[in-house]
Amino acid sequence: MGLCPELKVIEGSLRGTIPKKASPSGLPMKRRKLWSGRFSEDADRLAEEFNASISFDRRLFRHDIRGSIAHASALEKAGILTRKEAASIIEGLKAVEREISEGRFTFTPEMEDIHMAVERRLTEKIGPLGGKLHTGRSRNDQVALDIRLYLKDEIFTIAGLLHELKKAVVEAAEKHIGCIMPGYTHLQRAQPVLFSHHLLAYYEMFKRDTGRLLDCLERTDSMPLGAGALAGSPYELDRRLVAGLLGFSKVTENSMDSVSDRDFAIEFLSVASILMMHVSRLSEEIILWCTQEFGFVELPDAFSTGSSIMPQKKNPDVAELARGKTGRVYGDLMALLTLMKGLPLSYNKDMQEDKEPLFDAVDTVKETLLVFAPMLKSMKVNGDAMRKAVMAGFLNATDAADYLAKKGLPFREAHRVAGEIVAYCIKKGATLEDISTAEWKKFSPLFGDDIKEAVSIENSLNARAVYGGTALKTVKARLRAVKNEIGRGLC
Ligand code: ARG
Repeated sequence: MGLCPELKVIEGSLRGTIPKKASPSGLPMKRRKLWSGRFSEDADRLAEEFNASISFDRRLFRHDIRGSIAHASALEKAGILTRKEAASIIEGLKAVEREISEGRFTFTPEMEDIHMAVERRLTEKIGPLGGKLHTGRSRNDQVALDIRLYLKDEIFTIAGLLHELKKAVVEAAEKHIGCIMPGYTHLQRAQPVLFSHHLLAYYEMFKRDTGRLLDCLERTDSMPLGAGALAGSPYELDRRLVAGLLGFSKVTENSMDSVSDRDFAIEFLSVASILMMHVSRLSEEIILWCTQEFGFVELPDAFSTGSSIMPQKKNPDVAELARGKTGRVYGDLMALLTLMKGLPLSYNKDMQEDKEPLFDAVDTVKETLLVFAPMLKSMKVNGDAMRKAVMAGFLNATDAADYLAKKGLPFREAHRVAGEIVAYCIKKGATLEDISTAEWKKFSPLFGDDIKEAVSIENSLNARAVYGGTALKTVKARLRAVKNEIGRGLC
């Protein structure tokens, strides 16, 4: 079967990068694999390209080198490296790190993956001594270590960004404490709530997301090196020393599990999916609130975009994209769950496919959180539009029923009476605030002169002073507690 033109170009360009010089084993020097001892045939170009993860796992270079430096110390302690050897390996590794971070290093597909690229460059720099670094280690435990180190760092970064988002939510809740809006169920106006109460609901969700991130950190924070390929290392490696050097609080317990386990990454992806689901729900609300139909909020120009055809348009693209990117993170979770579901113990090359979804989710969550917090801070709130919406739609009908229930009428009965009053008002084109006490009394003798006061919007709101309710004083108290939590750091 002939190759399509694009693949031919790729193949051709790969071929162009390969030096012709042959090694003692007959394979071209640069193309010799670190594992090529038993191989007499050159790797097929397409197979090599297909196998390589260097194009994406190169982003793990810092973690890979950190892990190698710690491993060199364990090799020294085990008497496999002399102090001098360990020192020159460590120095060489640091030089490789500098080369990569300063962009002086060219990655090519024949390097296969980041572990081989670093080791090969180290050996080029310090000579055959570089070959001692892989003693007692396999790429299987090495890659397990790298991802854990990477993910631990990223969990902290994401928790920090999430903290900023929580601060933005709380700041907006504090700024607009006086705004009363309709609370909805079924997207139908239900009962008056404080806009701040609505916003603080998201604070609670994001707080649980932080908790989930930190829980996941607990299981990511386990050091796998020493597992070797799968059965454990035959050298006396001090695994706890390595864990300590790398900032892990514990070591993994089973070598086979150590190289097979990706559930910490799946756990992260599920946490990320839940977090994005929350961001997406808030996005959806902001998108609705920005419409002319609602008009509750306005996003500043800096966080909106225009239409190339309709001059009047101002679109909430940031919120829409946050909602859209949520699906992408769900996809990353599904990719990893599906990847792992049929794998026998222990390492299988399929697992190389864990990285791109993980990286994609980390990047997506970070960029979303980064832009979301400032957007939220700059959102303008139209308290008048909210109040207008509260006044229409009989949001205080429950209060009329509660009034009767408090006078002893069974709630079911009270509910029916209030419903009849609503029907009466609809017919009359009036609101519950408009009708006279005499009219109220026609529906039930239990209504007294204080009914007008009881169904006022402020009363309806402030009556809900139960712990966790929307009354002004309750929300203010929660706001004080939340600001305290925020001030104490990650919560
Ligand atoms: N690039 C590989 C990965 O990401 C590293 C481990 C390779 N191990 C192996 N035995 N081929 O999974």
